[in-house]
Amino acid sequence: MSESAKLSFKGQDYEFPVITGTENESAIDIAKLRATSGLITLDPGYKNTGATTSAITFLDGEEGILRYRGYRIEDLAEKSTFLEVSYLLIYGELPTQAQYEDFSKEITHHTLVHEDIKKILEGFPSNAHPMGVLSSMICALTAFYPDSLNPNRSEEEVNLSIIRLIAKMPTFATWAYKNEMGHPVNYPDNSLDYCSNFLKMMFALPAEKYDVDPIVSAALDKLLILHADHEQNCSTSTVRIVGSSQASIYASISAGINALWGPLHGGANQSVIEMLEAIKADGGDAKKYLDKAKDKNDPFRLMGFGHRVYKNFDPRAKIIKKAADDVLAKLGVNDPVLDIAKELEHAALNDQYFIDRQLYPNVDFYSGIIYRALGIPTDMFTVMFALGRLPGWIAQWKEMRENGEPIGRPRQVYTGANERDYVSMNKR
Ligand code: CMC
Repeated sequence: MSESAKLSFKGQDYEFPVITGTENESAIDIAKLRATSGLITLDPGYKNTGATTSAITFLDGEEGILRYRGYRIEDLAEKSTFLEVSYLLIYGELPTQAQYEDFSKEITHHTLVHEDIKKILEGFPSNAHPMGVLSSMICALTAFYPDSLNPNRSEEEVNLSIIRLIAKMPTFATWAYKNEMGHPVNYPDNSLDYCSNFLKMMFALPAEKYDVDPIVSAALDKLLILHADHEQNCSTSTVRIVGSSQASIYASISAGINALWGPLHGGANQSVIEMLEAIKADGGDAKKYLDKAKDKNDPFRLMGFGHRVYKNFDPRAKIIKKAADDVLAKLGVNDPVLDIAKELEHAALNDQYFIDRQLYPNVDFYSGIIYRALGIPTDMFTVMFALGRLPGWIAQWKEMRENGEPIGRPRQVYTGANERDYVSMNKR
Protein backbone atom coordinates (compact mmCIF):
# COMPACT_ATOMS: atom_id res chain seq x y z
CA MET A 1 0.00 0.00 0.00
CA SER A 2 1.39 3.41 -0.90
CA GLU A 3 2.19 5.71 2.01
CA SER A 4 0.75 9.14 2.64
CA ALA A 5 1.38 12.14 4.90
CA LYS A 6 -1.30 14.13 6.71
CA LEU A 7 -1.47 17.85 7.33
CA SER A 8 -3.94 19.48 9.73
CA PHE A 9 -4.77 23.13 9.32
CA LYS A 10 -7.67 25.06 10.85
CA GLY A 11 -9.45 21.89 11.85
CA GLN A 12 -9.23 20.32 8.43
CA ASP A 13 -7.11 17.29 7.46
CA TYR A 14 -5.34 17.00 4.14
CA GLU A 15 -3.62 13.90 2.85
CA PHE A 16 -0.73 13.81 0.40
CA PRO A 17 1.00 10.89 -1.31
CA VAL A 18 4.55 10.03 -0.28
CA ILE A 19 6.78 8.98 -3.13
CA THR A 20 9.89 6.86 -2.60
CA GLY A 21 12.99 6.88 -4.79
CA THR A 22 15.05 3.85 -5.80
CA GLU A 23 17.43 4.46 -2.86
CA ASN A 24 14.46 4.71 -0.47
CA GLU A 25 14.50 8.43 0.14
CA SER A 26 10.94 9.65 0.62
CA ALA A 27 9.21 12.88 -0.33
CA ILE A 28 5.75 14.29 0.30
CA ASP A 29 4.19 15.07 -3.06
CA ILE A 30 2.57 18.46 -2.45
CA ALA A 31 1.57 19.17 -6.06
CA LYS A 32 -2.07 19.55 -4.95
CA LEU A 33 -1.32 21.42 -1.67
CA ARG A 34 -2.39 24.89 -2.76
CA ALA A 35 -5.36 23.71 -4.78
CA THR A 36 -6.77 21.76 -1.82
CA SER A 37 -5.72 23.85 1.21
CA GLY A 38 -4.79 27.31 -0.11
CA LEU A 39 -1.38 26.89 1.54
CA ILE A 40 2.06 26.95 0.00
CA THR A 41 5.35 25.86 1.56
CA LEU A 42 8.17 28.26 2.49
CA ASP A 43 11.70 26.92 2.24
CA PRO A 44 14.43 29.56 1.70
CA GLY A 45 17.45 28.07 -0.04
CA TYR A 46 15.28 25.02 -0.92
CA LYS A 47 16.92 23.08 1.91
CA ASN A 48 13.98 20.63 2.08
CA THR A 49 12.53 20.97 -1.38
CA GLY A 50 12.85 18.37 -4.09
CA ALA A 51 12.50 20.26 -7.36
CA THR A 52 12.32 17.15 -9.51
CA THR A 53 12.71 13.41 -9.65
CA SER A 54 15.94 12.48 -11.38
CA ALA A 55 17.64 9.27 -12.52
CA ILE A 56 21.10 10.76 -13.09
CA THR A 57 23.05 11.17 -9.85
CA PHE A 58 22.56 9.75 -6.39
CA LEU A 59 24.24 11.19 -3.37
CA ASP A 60 23.88 10.43 0.29
CA GLY A 61 25.31 13.29 2.33
CA GLU A 62 25.27 11.36 5.59
CA GLU A 63 27.12 8.34 4.22
CA GLY A 64 29.36 10.27 1.81
CA ILE A 65 28.09 8.38 -1.25
CA LEU A 66 28.14 9.71 -4.80
CA ARG A 67 27.10 7.67 -7.85
CA TYR A 68 26.51 8.62 -11.48
CA ARG A 69 23.75 6.47 -13.03
CA GLY A 70 24.41 3.94 -10.25
CA TYR A 71 28.18 3.72 -10.76
CA ARG A 72 30.39 4.60 -7.76
CA ILE A 73 32.42 7.81 -8.17
CA GLU A 74 35.47 5.99 -6.80
CA ASP A 75 35.28 3.39 -9.62
CA LEU A 76 34.63 5.96 -12.31
CA ALA A 77 37.52 8.17 -11.14
CA GLU A 78 39.87 5.21 -11.19
CA LYS A 79 38.74 3.27 -14.26
CA SER A 80 36.83 5.53 -16.64
CA THR A 81 37.56 8.59 -18.75
CA PHE A 82 35.86 11.97 -18.79
CA LEU A 83 34.33 11.40 -22.23
CA GLU A 84 33.00 7.99 -21.21
CA VAL A 85 31.49 9.52 -18.04
CA SER A 86 29.98 12.30 -20.15
CA TYR A 87 28.31 9.68 -22.35
CA LEU A 88 27.08 7.82 -19.27
CA LEU A 89 25.55 10.92 -17.71
CA ILE A 90 23.92 12.18 -20.90
CA TYR A 91 22.65 8.93 -22.43
CA GLY A 92 22.16 6.86 -19.27
CA GLU A 93 24.45 3.85 -19.93
CA LEU A 94 28.15 3.21 -20.31
CA PRO A 95 28.92 3.19 -24.05
CA THR A 96 29.93 0.11 -26.02
CA GLN A 97 33.27 0.37 -27.81
CA ALA A 98 31.51 1.40 -31.04
CA GLN A 99 29.32 3.98 -29.29
CA TYR A 100 32.34 5.43 -27.52
CA GLU A 101 34.32 5.71 -30.74
CA ASP A 102 31.42 7.43 -32.53
CA PHE A 103 30.89 9.84 -29.63
CA SER A 104 34.61 10.75 -29.40
CA LYS A 105 34.83 11.14 -33.18
CA GLU A 106 31.81 13.45 -33.27
CA ILE A 107 33.22 15.58 -30.46
CA THR A 108 36.63 15.81 -32.09
CA HIS A 109 34.98 16.81 -35.38
CA HIS A 110 33.22 19.83 -33.79
CA THR A 111 36.05 21.40 -31.76
CA LEU A 112 36.56 24.37 -34.08
CA VAL A 113 34.51 27.53 -33.46
CA HIS A 114 33.29 30.14 -35.93
CA GLU A 115 35.99 32.75 -36.64
CA ASP A 116 33.53 35.57 -35.85
CA ILE A 117 33.52 34.45 -32.20
CA LYS A 118 37.07 35.78 -32.04
CA LYS A 119 35.65 39.24 -32.68
CA ILE A 120 33.46 38.87 -29.59
CA LEU A 121 36.49 37.74 -27.61
CA GLU A 122 38.51 40.71 -28.82
CA GLY A 123 35.81 43.04 -27.46
CA PHE A 124 36.60 42.02 -23.87
CA PRO A 125 39.22 43.94 -21.88
CA SER A 126 42.25 41.78 -21.22
CA ASN A 127 41.62 41.77 -17.45
CA ALA A 128 38.12 40.28 -17.90
CA HIS A 129 37.48 37.32 -15.59
CA PRO A 130 37.47 34.19 -17.79
CA MET A 131 34.14 32.98 -16.31
CA GLY A 132 32.32 36.04 -17.69
CA VAL A 133 34.03 35.60 -21.05
CA LEU A 134 33.18 31.89 -21.13
CA SER A 135 29.50 32.35 -20.33
CA SER A 136 29.23 35.11 -22.96
CA MET A 137 30.81 32.97 -25.66
CA ILE A 138 28.60 29.98 -24.83
CA CYS A 139 25.52 32.21 -24.98
CA ALA A 140 26.78 33.65 -28.27
CA LEU A 141 26.36 30.17 -29.80
CA THR A 142 22.62 30.99 -29.98
CA ALA A 143 23.55 33.54 -32.66
CA PHE A 144 25.72 31.13 -34.63
CA TYR A 145 23.20 28.25 -34.39
CA PRO A 146 19.80 30.02 -34.33
CA ASP A 147 18.02 26.69 -34.87
CA SER A 148 18.73 26.10 -31.14
CA LEU A 149 16.06 28.70 -30.35
CA ASN A 150 13.35 26.38 -31.66
CA PRO A 151 12.03 24.38 -28.68
CA ASN A 152 10.49 21.80 -31.05
CA ARG A 153 13.67 20.75 -32.82
CA SER A 154 14.26 17.11 -33.67
CA GLU A 155 16.21 14.89 -31.25
CA GLU A 156 18.97 14.74 -33.83
CA GLU A 157 19.32 18.53 -33.82
CA VAL A 158 19.30 18.63 -30.02
CA ASN A 159 22.02 16.01 -29.99
CA LEU A 160 24.15 18.07 -32.36
CA SER A 161 23.93 21.01 -29.92
CA ILE A 162 25.05 18.69 -27.12
CA ILE A 163 28.05 17.50 -29.15
CA ARG A 164 28.91 21.07 -30.12
CA LEU A 165 28.88 22.18 -26.48
CA ILE A 166 31.22 19.44 -25.28
CA ALA A 167 33.46 19.86 -28.31
CA LYS A 168 33.79 23.65 -28.18
CA MET A 169 33.95 24.16 -24.42
CA PRO A 170 37.77 23.56 -24.20
CA THR A 171 38.28 25.93 -27.13
CA PHE A 172 36.23 28.67 -25.44
CA ALA A 173 37.75 28.05 -22.01
CA THR A 174 41.31 28.35 -23.30
CA TRP A 175 40.45 31.37 -25.44
CA ALA A 176 39.08 33.13 -22.36
CA TYR A 177 42.47 32.51 -20.73
CA LYS A 178 44.47 33.61 -23.75
CA ASN A 179 42.48 36.84 -23.82
CA GLU A 180 43.43 37.47 -20.21
CA MET A 181 47.10 36.79 -20.91
CA GLY A 182 47.21 38.88 -24.08
CA HIS A 183 48.42 35.81 -25.99
CA PRO A 184 47.20 34.65 -29.41
CA VAL A 185 44.55 31.94 -29.21
CA ASN A 186 45.38 28.38 -30.24
CA TYR A 187 43.24 26.23 -32.50
CA PRO A 188 42.21 22.71 -31.51
CA ASP A 189 44.45 19.78 -32.41
CA ASN A 190 42.13 16.94 -33.33
CA SER A 191 44.91 14.37 -33.16
CA LEU A 192 44.86 14.71 -29.36
CA ASP A 193 42.47 13.36 -26.73
CA TYR A 194 40.05 15.74 -24.97
CA CYS A 195 42.28 16.78 -22.05
CA SER A 196 45.54 16.88 -24.02
CA ASN A 197 43.88 19.10 -26.62
CA PHE A 198 42.68 21.40 -23.82
CA LEU A 199 46.18 21.60 -22.31
CA LYS A 200 47.81 22.32 -25.64
CA MET A 201 45.33 25.11 -26.45
CA MET A 202 45.82 26.50 -22.95
CA PHE A 203 49.61 26.51 -22.73
CA ALA A 204 51.14 26.35 -26.21
CA LEU A 205 52.73 29.56 -27.48
CA PRO A 206 53.64 30.19 -31.12
CA ALA A 207 57.26 30.85 -30.14
CA GLU A 208 57.86 27.57 -28.31
CA LYS A 209 57.35 23.86 -28.73
CA TYR A 210 54.78 22.43 -26.31
CA ASP A 211 54.48 18.76 -25.43
CA VAL A 212 51.55 17.62 -23.33
CA ASP A 213 52.69 15.88 -20.14
CA PRO A 214 50.67 12.63 -19.88
CA ILE A 215 50.72 12.88 -16.05
CA VAL A 216 49.08 16.30 -16.23
CA SER A 217 46.55 15.14 -18.82
CA ALA A 218 45.56 12.06 -16.77
CA ALA A 219 45.20 14.13 -13.57
CA LEU A 220 42.99 16.62 -15.38
CA ASP A 221 40.80 13.84 -16.76
CA LYS A 222 40.25 12.51 -13.23
CA LEU A 223 39.38 15.98 -11.90
CA LEU A 224 36.83 16.49 -14.66
CA ILE A 225 35.18 13.14 -13.82
CA LEU A 226 34.89 14.17 -10.15
CA HIS A 227 33.15 17.41 -11.10
CA ALA A 228 30.90 15.98 -13.82
CA ASP A 229 27.59 16.04 -11.93
CA HIS A 230 26.24 16.69 -8.47
CA GLU A 231 22.45 16.52 -8.75
CA GLN A 232 20.35 19.61 -8.00
CA ASN A 233 23.01 22.11 -6.89
CA CYS A 234 22.77 25.86 -7.55
CA SER A 235 24.13 25.89 -11.13
CA THR A 236 22.32 22.71 -12.18
CA SER A 237 19.02 23.99 -10.80
CA THR A 238 19.71 27.20 -12.74
CA VAL A 239 20.24 25.25 -15.96
CA ARG A 240 17.01 23.30 -15.42
CA ILE A 241 14.96 26.37 -14.52
CA VAL A 242 16.22 28.45 -17.45
CA GLY A 243 15.71 25.47 -19.75
CA SER A 244 12.19 24.99 -18.40
CA SER A 245 11.19 28.26 -20.10
CA GLN A 246 12.27 26.57 -23.36
CA ALA A 247 15.23 28.95 -23.74
CA SER A 248 18.01 27.56 -25.95
CA ILE A 249 20.35 24.92 -24.50
CA TYR A 250 23.22 27.37 -25.03
CA ALA A 251 21.46 30.09 -23.01
CA SER A 252 20.66 27.54 -20.28
CA ILE A 253 24.27 26.34 -19.98
CA SER A 254 25.54 29.92 -20.05
CA ALA A 255 23.23 30.68 -17.08
CA GLY A 256 24.66 27.65 -15.25
CA ILE A 257 28.19 28.98 -15.76
CA ASN A 258 27.16 32.28 -14.17
CA ALA A 259 25.60 30.50 -11.19
CA LEU A 260 28.75 28.40 -10.73
CA TRP A 261 30.93 31.52 -10.63
CA GLY A 262 29.88 32.61 -7.10
CA PRO A 263 32.34 31.99 -4.22
CA LEU A 264 29.79 29.92 -2.30
CA HIS A 265 29.57 27.51 -5.26
CA GLY A 266 32.27 26.74 -7.87
CA GLY A 267 34.06 30.02 -7.22
CA ALA A 268 35.16 28.52 -3.90
CA ASN A 269 38.13 26.75 -5.53
CA GLN A 270 39.64 30.11 -6.45
CA SER A 271 38.80 31.53 -3.00
CA VAL A 272 40.48 28.56 -1.26
CA ILE A 273 43.85 29.21 -2.88
CA GLU A 274 43.53 32.96 -2.30
CA MET A 275 42.76 32.22 1.36
CA LEU A 276 45.70 29.80 1.73
CA GLU A 277 48.03 32.31 0.13
CA ALA A 278 46.77 35.04 2.46
CA ILE A 279 47.43 32.75 5.45
CA LYS A 280 50.92 32.05 4.16
CA ALA A 281 51.64 35.75 3.58
CA ASP A 282 50.37 36.45 7.11
CA GLY A 283 52.93 34.14 8.71
CA GLY A 284 51.18 30.78 8.18
CA ASP A 285 49.11 30.82 11.36
CA ALA A 286 46.16 28.52 10.45
CA LYS A 287 44.67 28.83 13.95
CA LYS A 288 44.21 32.61 13.55
CA TYR A 289 42.03 32.02 10.48
CA LEU A 290 40.16 29.23 12.16
CA ASP A 291 39.24 31.67 14.93
CA LYS A 292 38.17 34.28 12.39
CA ALA A 293 35.88 31.70 10.74
CA LYS A 294 34.28 30.94 14.11
CA ASP A 295 33.78 34.59 15.03
CA LYS A 296 30.15 35.47 14.32
CA ASN A 297 31.08 39.16 14.04
CA ASP A 298 33.50 38.39 11.24
CA PRO A 299 32.03 37.57 7.80
CA PHE A 300 35.08 35.39 7.01
CA ARG A 301 34.31 31.74 6.27
CA LEU A 302 36.80 28.96 5.85
CA MET A 303 36.58 28.49 2.10
CA GLY A 304 36.47 24.87 0.95
CA PHE A 305 34.73 23.79 4.16
CA GLY A 306 31.11 22.81 4.60
CA HIS A 307 28.54 21.56 2.17
CA ARG A 308 24.80 21.88 1.86
CA VAL A 309 24.39 18.14 1.47
CA TYR A 310 27.53 16.34 2.72
CA LYS A 311 27.42 16.25 6.50
CA ASN A 312 30.00 13.53 7.03
CA PHE A 313 32.61 13.81 4.30
CA ASP A 314 32.71 14.74 0.63
CA PRO A 315 33.82 11.58 -1.23
CA ARG A 316 35.25 13.71 -4.03
CA ALA A 317 37.49 15.56 -1.55
CA LYS A 318 38.92 12.21 -0.39
CA ILE A 319 39.82 11.18 -3.95
CA ILE A 320 41.19 14.64 -4.79
CA LYS A 321 43.33 14.77 -1.66
CA LYS A 322 45.01 11.52 -2.66
CA ALA A 323 45.31 12.64 -6.28
CA ALA A 324 46.90 15.93 -5.09
CA ASP A 325 49.54 13.99 -3.13
CA ASP A 326 50.22 11.72 -6.16
CA VAL A 327 50.40 14.52 -8.71
CA LEU A 328 52.63 16.71 -6.59
CA ALA A 329 54.97 13.78 -5.98
CA LYS A 330 55.03 12.73 -9.65
CA LEU A 331 55.65 16.26 -10.87
CA GLY A 332 58.16 16.90 -8.11
CA VAL A 333 56.25 19.98 -6.94
CA ASN A 334 56.76 21.16 -3.39
CA ASP A 335 53.94 23.57 -2.64
CA PRO A 336 54.06 25.23 0.80
CA VAL A 337 50.38 26.08 0.39
CA LEU A 338 49.66 22.34 0.58
CA ASP A 339 51.24 22.21 4.03
CA ILE A 340 49.03 25.09 5.17
CA ALA A 341 45.99 23.31 3.70
CA LYS A 342 46.84 20.13 5.64
CA GLU A 343 47.39 22.07 8.85
CA LEU A 344 44.12 23.93 8.43
CA GLU A 345 42.25 20.72 7.69
CA HIS A 346 43.71 19.01 10.75
CA ALA A 347 42.91 22.00 13.00
CA ALA A 348 39.33 22.32 11.71
CA LEU A 349 38.56 18.60 11.93
CA ASN A 350 39.54 18.69 15.60
CA ASP A 351 37.73 21.90 16.45
CA GLN A 352 34.38 21.71 18.27
CA TYR A 353 32.81 24.49 16.15
CA PHE A 354 33.46 22.54 12.96
CA ILE A 355 32.57 19.20 14.54
CA ASP A 356 29.22 20.52 15.84
CA ARG A 357 28.27 21.97 12.46
CA GLN A 358 29.54 18.95 10.51
CA LEU A 359 31.88 21.07 8.41
CA TYR A 360 34.35 18.96 6.40
CA PRO A 361 36.65 19.82 3.48
CA ASN A 362 34.68 19.83 0.24
CA VAL A 363 35.70 19.16 -3.37
CA ASP A 364 37.05 22.68 -3.76
CA PHE A 365 39.48 22.46 -0.86
CA TYR A 366 42.08 20.34 -2.66
CA SER A 367 41.20 20.84 -6.33
CA GLY A 368 42.91 24.25 -6.42
CA ILE A 369 46.13 22.70 -5.16
CA ILE A 370 46.19 20.20 -8.03
CA TYR A 371 45.27 22.87 -10.55
CA ARG A 372 48.21 24.95 -9.33
CA ALA A 373 50.53 21.96 -9.66
CA LEU A 374 49.24 21.45 -13.21
CA GLY A 375 50.13 25.07 -13.98
CA ILE A 376 46.54 26.35 -14.18
CA PRO A 377 46.29 29.97 -12.99
CA THR A 378 44.01 30.76 -10.05
CA ASP A 379 41.25 32.63 -11.85
CA MET A 380 40.89 29.73 -14.30
CA PHE A 381 39.96 27.29 -11.50
CA THR A 382 36.24 27.91 -11.75
CA VAL A 383 36.46 27.58 -15.53
CA MET A 384 37.98 24.12 -14.93
CA PHE A 385 34.99 23.30 -12.73
CA ALA A 386 32.65 24.44 -15.53
CA LEU A 387 34.51 22.26 -18.04
CA GLY A 388 33.97 19.27 -15.77
CA ARG A 389 30.35 20.08 -14.87
CA LEU A 390 29.24 20.56 -18.48
CA PRO A 391 28.05 16.96 -19.14
CA GLY A 392 26.09 17.03 -15.89
CA TRP A 393 24.33 20.25 -16.84
CA ILE A 394 23.56 18.80 -20.27
CA ALA A 395 22.23 15.53 -18.82
CA GLN A 396 20.01 17.44 -16.38
CA TRP A 397 18.75 19.80 -19.10
CA LYS A 398 17.97 16.80 -21.33
CA GLU A 399 16.17 14.97 -18.53
CA MET A 400 14.09 18.06 -17.69
CA ARG A 401 13.09 18.33 -21.35
CA GLU A 402 12.33 14.62 -21.78
CA ASN A 403 10.26 14.56 -18.57
CA GLY A 404 8.19 17.43 -20.02
CA GLU A 405 8.66 19.36 -16.78
CA PRO A 406 6.57 22.54 -16.41
CA ILE A 407 8.20 25.97 -16.31
CA GLY A 408 9.93 26.55 -12.97
CA ARG A 409 8.07 29.25 -11.13
CA PRO A 410 8.28 29.32 -7.31
CA ARG A 411 5.74 31.23 -5.25
CA GLN A 412 6.34 33.64 -2.36
CA VAL A 413 4.78 34.88 0.85
CA TYR A 414 4.27 38.60 0.28
CA THR A 415 5.39 40.79 3.22
CA GLY A 416 5.17 44.27 1.63
CA ALA A 417 2.71 47.16 2.01
CA ASN A 418 -1.03 46.57 1.69
CA GLU A 419 -3.04 48.35 -0.98
CA ARG A 420 -2.66 52.13 -0.82
CA ASP A 421 -3.47 55.16 -2.95
CA TYR A 422 -0.91 56.77 -5.20
CA VAL A 423 0.46 60.02 -3.71
CA SER A 424 1.47 62.69 -6.22
CA MET A 425 5.06 63.88 -5.97
CA ASN A 426 4.30 67.36 -4.55
CA LYS A 427 2.47 65.74 -1.62
CA ARG A 428 5.20 63.30 -0.53
N1 CMC B 1 33.32 28.47 7.72
C1 CMC B 1 32.79 28.80 8.93
N2 CMC B 1 31.52 28.54 9.30
C2 CMC B 1 30.74 27.90 8.41
C3 CMC B 1 31.22 27.51 7.14
C4 CMC B 1 32.56 27.82 6.81
N3 CMC B 1 33.06 27.48 5.61
N4 CMC B 1 30.22 26.89 6.46
C5 CMC B 1 29.15 26.89 7.28
N5 CMC B 1 29.47 27.49 8.45
C6 CMC B 1 28.59 27.63 9.63
C7 CMC B 1 27.57 28.73 9.44
O1 CMC B 1 28.06 29.97 9.91
C8 CMC B 1 26.43 28.20 10.26
O2 CMC B 1 26.74 28.41 11.61
P1 CMC B 1 25.56 28.72 12.69
O3 CMC B 1 24.70 27.49 12.71
O4 CMC B 1 26.29 28.96 13.96
O5 CMC B 1 24.85 29.95 12.18
C9 CMC B 1 26.47 26.69 10.02
O6 CMC B 1 27.85 26.41 9.73
C10 CMC B 1 25.60 26.21 8.86
O7 CMC B 1 25.96 26.93 7.70
P2 CMC B 1 24.96 27.34 6.54
O8 CMC B 1 25.49 28.56 5.84
O9 CMC B 1 23.55 27.43 7.09
O10 CMC B 1 25.03 26.08 5.62
P3 CMC B 1 24.59 25.99 4.11
O11 CMC B 1 24.24 24.60 3.84
O12 CMC B 1 23.59 27.06 3.80
O13 CMC B 1 25.94 26.42 3.31
C11 CMC B 1 27.96 26.31 2.13
C12 CMC B 1 26.76 25.53 2.66
C13 CMC B 1 28.81 25.40 1.24
C14 CMC B 1 27.48 27.50 1.26
C15 CMC B 1 28.80 26.84 3.33
O14 CMC B 1 29.28 25.75 4.09
C16 CMC B 1 29.96 27.74 2.91
O15 CMC B 1 29.77 28.94 2.75
N6 CMC B 1 31.20 27.14 2.69
C17 CMC B 1 32.32 27.91 2.20
C18 CMC B 1 32.23 28.05 0.69
C19 CMC B 1 32.55 26.76 -0.04
O16 CMC B 1 33.51 26.08 0.25
N7 CMC B 1 31.72 26.45 -1.06
C20 CMC B 1 31.90 25.25 -1.90
C21 CMC B 1 30.79 24.26 -1.70
S1 CMC B 1 31.14 22.64 -2.41
C22 CMC B 1 31.27 22.81 -4.10
C23 CMC B 1 30.23 23.63 -4.77
O17 CMC B 1 29.04 23.66 -4.42
O18 CMC B 1 30.60 24.27 -5.74
